[in-house]
Amino acid sequence: MYTEMFKPIKIGNVEIRNRVAMAPTTTNFAQAGCPSEQFMAFLAARAKGGVGLVVTPPALNPFPGGGAHLVFPMLSEKEHMPFWNEVAETVHAFGSKVFGQIVAGGSGRQTAPGKASKAPSPIPIKSIPEENIPKQARAYEARQGLPSMWAQYKNLSPPQELTAEEIVWLEDTFAKTAQMMKECGFDGAELHFAHGYLGSSFLSARTNHRTDAYGGNLENRGRLLYNAVAKTRAAVGQSFVVGVRMTGNEHMPRGITIEESTHMAGRAEQEGIDYVHLTGGCWEAAKWYLPEEDNTMLDEAGAMEAVLNIPVITPSIHTPKNVENAIASGKTDMVSLCRPLIADPQWVAKVANKEEHKIRKCIRCLGCLQRLRRSLGLRCEVNREVGQERYNSEYWRLFAPGWKNYRLPS
Ligand SMILES: Cc1cc2nc3c(=O)[nH]c(=O)nc-3n(C[C@H](O)[C@H](O)[C@H](O)COP(=O)(O)O)c2cc1C
Ligand code: SF4
Repeated sequence: MYTEMFKPIKIGNVEIRNRVAMAPTTTNFAQAGCPSEQFMAFLAARAKGGVGLVVTPPALNPFPGGGAHLVFPMLSEKEHMPFWNEVAETVHAFGSKVFGQIVAGGSGRQTAPGKASKAPSPIPIKSIPEENIPKQARAYEARQGLPSMWAQYKNLSPPQELTAEEIVWLEDTFAKTAQMMKECGFDGAELHFAHGYLGSSFLSARTNHRTDAYGGNLENRGRLLYNAVAKTRAAVGQSFVVGVRMTGNEHMPRGITIEESTHMAGRAEQEGIDYVHLTGGCWEAAKWYLPEEDNTMLDEAGAMEAVLNIPVITPSIHTPKNVENAIASGKTDMVSLCRPLIADPQWVAKVANKEEHKIRKCIRCLGCLQRLRRSLGLRCEVNREVGQERYNSEYWRLFAPGWKNYRLPS
């Protein structure tokens, strides 16, 4: 009998029906850079399956002149807003709250091989050490007879170093995008400072070698984060939730440590965040970003819980028993599921209905992510519905909630 995961929780001013969230999951389901019907149906299925909170895949607000993005959804122009408004209304129609993840600028030094990128310092990826590649992912490639995708990340070209003006643009852009998200009807925004991508590469002494106000000591490396949070809070006011996705431990030499990330999360709390969505690793330490087993980040969550006064969300705990125990331990307030919900959107409903034995389990093969990295749409080795949700009328929303007396988000 599970009770802890079904207790409601409040993040900022937002009441959430239970403690299981959908983790942000890039899908490559956008069309012409906008959320598509398939993008929305994929989220609708997970909201219908009972999660309390959906954190959407990132909305990208790219560097000026950053080129067209087709399958990655953008939120930089007013013309993108109707599509994101549809996303918010769709998730709400199925009873979940919705926060939108935001990427400002681009992917930084982890941009796909062969593409231009910008980063705090011109430090390229040299290789992904074999011991840091999830074993099941290698097994998947072998089964499919595919050449190693991981080997492509070898001696990449150095990214271009960002100017101080471009960094201020990033701060302003997080705030501007969150403001648009609020106007689209979202309950909150999650600033992406995780997994070695652009935001988090500022926080790490490994990838930030700047000598100006944005590099060097911990305060300087965190400056982009703190300024982005302060500007976002000023733009959206108090009632809209602002959170940050942060790497607790980068698991790389000179990388972000849990002591550093805990300190930076505390400073971000002072600047106004309402929650931390923890994660781990980076592309060069992929097995910590996409763990091979449960509870790899739970102790780090506990370290954050000990110093923060705001909720912590922790990913990569797949079994209901482990989710229940993690929340009961007090080390995390919520758990977020990514792969378990790709494999089975009904995960929460099945646990609630005492049908745990019917859950279709993720086998951690990473076929999903490897397809994205090969520029294909999301699919799942154990759930053939992934990518086809738009054809299932169970996920269609016939009317926006409260359509009779529809009011604009304040
Ligand atoms: C296919 C796929 C796409 C992902 N996309 C994102 C993303 O856009 N943003 C993000 O912060 N994390 C992303 N992640 C990481 C997940 O949110 C999550 O932290 C990670 O998969 C570990 O949790 P899990 O074991 O429940 O999958 C992605 C993971 C996968 C497998
Ligand atoms: S979600 Fe599906 S494709 Fe992804 S790791 Fe799990 S089983 Fe494999």
